[in-house]
Amino acid sequence: MKRILVTGATGQIGSELTLVLRDKYGAHNVVAAGHKRKPNRNMAESGPFCTIEVTDYKSVEKVVKAYDIHTIYHLAAVLSSAAESKPQLAWHINMDGLMTILEIARKYDCSVFTPSSIGAFGPSTPPDNTPQDTIQRPNTMYGISKVSGELLCDYYYEKYGVDTRGLRYPGLISHETLPGGGTTDYAVEIFYGAIKNKKYQCFLKAGTRLDMMYMPDAIRAAMELMEADSGRLKHRNAFNVTAMSFSPEDICASIKEQIPDFKMIYQVDPLRQAIADSWPHKMDDRAARSEWGWKAEYDLSAMTKEMIVKLRQKLKM
Ligand code: SER
Repeated sequence: MKRILVTGATGQIGSELTLVLRDKYGAHNVVAAGHKRKPNRNMAESGPFCTIEVTDYKSVEKVVKAYDIHTIYHLAAVLSSAAESKPQLAWHINMDGLMTILEIARKYDCSVFTPSSIGAFGPSTPPDNTPQDTIQRPNTMYGISKVSGELLCDYYYEKYGVDTRGLRYPGLISHETLPGGGTTDYAVEIFYGAIKNKKYQCFLKAGTRLDMMYMPDAIRAAMELMEADSGRLKHRNAFNVTAMSFSPEDICASIKEQIPDFKMIYQVDPLRQAIADSWPHKMDDRAARSEWGWKAEYDLSAMTKEMIVKLRQKLKM
């Protein structure tokens, strides 16, 4: 039986995707790979876990050979605001890491899923109903690495026939593992603030509208794309996908419906505000809908209600 490898398995997406993949394909068929962060008990005990260095060919090859891997969900990456603090490191992890994975996929005939992002667009991209195929001139290191990654994945498909597929994720909201170093992180932190202290200091200003998605939709999107009939895919790297589009005041109002005395104030961080200002407000995801049947299930209100219930259970509050 050939198996699946998840890199960045202890991160925001990986910590949930790994468990859903294990449920679907059998726990021992899904190998979780992390780097510095320790896996939580559930991940460590429910199936194989290993430590790898994604920029080191031999370290990844060892695992791919040992477990007879046929699909790689390559999630290990540095997010947008962290990448602005350490641009050279971000390029190394995001690009050299991806190149390592693609080279191994070429040699061992693996399919590869790579997340791209709204960050792959820039200030000259049309911000509303951002088309699938449009101007991509990002002005952040994160965005530059994401556009380059999209092109590199297409190149490996065209030149070597590696089955590469990807999504341009919006900001992702989840209750399991916190994101780190991202610009859309406010939309996760706000729930912790609301539940713990009934207040939150937002680092983006009012009116900063961005695409967002709840994690169950994000996980389903990745798995559905990887299972889609290859013959139907006109695009590969990477598909626009979205579920909702909101500004800080919109999510604040949605939380207030559940927690009426919640209060939000603004303390704008210029670095992250500038990044957010360069990103689309709302992507057009019709290509994903028509080529592999994408459809989001959670809107802002459904996500807010579930986030509050799940986080209250987790925080015992
Ligand atoms: N959520 C990511 C970030 O803010 C965008 O892909 O960096």
